[in-house]
Amino acid sequence: MRISEKPLAARLKELGVELHAGVSLSEKTSLGIGGTTDELVLRRFDTIPEVMRLLADEKIPHRFLGGGTNVLIDDGELPWVVLHLPTSQPGMRVEGNAAYVDAAADLGGMVTFCAKRDLGGMEGLIGVPGSVGGALRMNAGAYGTQIGSYVREVELYRAATGEIETVRGNDIRFDYRHTSFAPDDVMLRVKLELPSKPFKEILAGIKVCNEKRRASQPLNQKSAGCIFKNPPGGSAGRMIDELGLKGHRAGDAMVSDRHANFFINAGKASCADMLRLIDDVRERVRLRYGVELENEVILWKN
Ligand code: EPU
Repeated sequence: MRISEKPLAARLKELGVELHAGVSLSEKTSLGIGGTTDELVLRRFDTIPEVMRLLADEKIPHRFLGGGTNVLIDDGELPWVVLHLPTSQPGMRVEGNAAYVDAAADLGGMVTFCAKRDLGGMEGLIGVPGSVGGALRMNAGAYGTQIGSYVREVELYRAATGEIETVRGNDIRFDYRHTSFAPDDVMLRVKLELPSKPFKEILAGIKVCNEKRRASQPLNQKSAGCIFKNPPGGSAGRMIDELGLKGHRAGDAMVSDRHANFFINAGKASCADMLRLIDDVRERVRLRYGVELENEVILWKN
């Protein structure tokens, strides 16, 4: 979707919104997959309601892109503009046991920032790539930790009301890789409450998680982490591995030979390649185990 030629572009500029024309989203995602569109960078939260009104008036579809680490984006010219909220550095501060963090901040950066101030609990999240906002939306988790357990307040833009609102942690449901946020809620800031822990102890925990992750996951390859959610009581990775599918390909999309629930862009994979591989593996798991695997990766399809 190209809006650089539209009158709307001038109004957006007045609001301080940066317009980047013809951005290839393959450069903005950890999978290295994604087509082309115009990108709007919103440096001030308070302009969001006005920007959204302008886009709605002109009937311009949009999507918010965060860290780009858990999303599979369609190929070619995309029918929506992409909105991005950058973070101010470092985008976080600590007061007692509370941490106030911008949703655009880096998740790992937040874990270490808090650790250095003797606030722990999130050691398991250390190697999870992406932004704090993405982690909130999905209730990211690893090694027994889920971010939702520590959330006390979330400031968000609620598309349903067109307003910026603050929601209490108790009013949000955090389930396994799922939350009660509406799909078009935009995470802006979070307040977390974290247990006090000496930095040294947190660091030891972080090291253990890092080692486990390095031993079992393909960290230096292009992926979106796990492709499927684990079915209740089971492991998608183990099932795919047992089917002998490590290294199985569709074009340049490949099942990782290290962790079978990680699908890799092994060259110039397209979204179509990745979708073929996902469907193929899902079907094989269904035939063998009678289990319908659900996507963990978020799909942005036309
Ligand atoms: N396994 C295999 N072969 C494989 C992969 C796994 O046999 O190729 C076996 C392992 O040996 C283990 C079991 O399956 O016995 C579970 O594997 P693992 O400990 O790697 O955990 P997982 O259930 O596959 C989950 C999360 C990961 C998270 C890890 C660590 C999901 C879908 N995945 O993986 O999160 O990092 O636990 O806590 O919940 C992600 O969300 O993108 C992600 C990677």
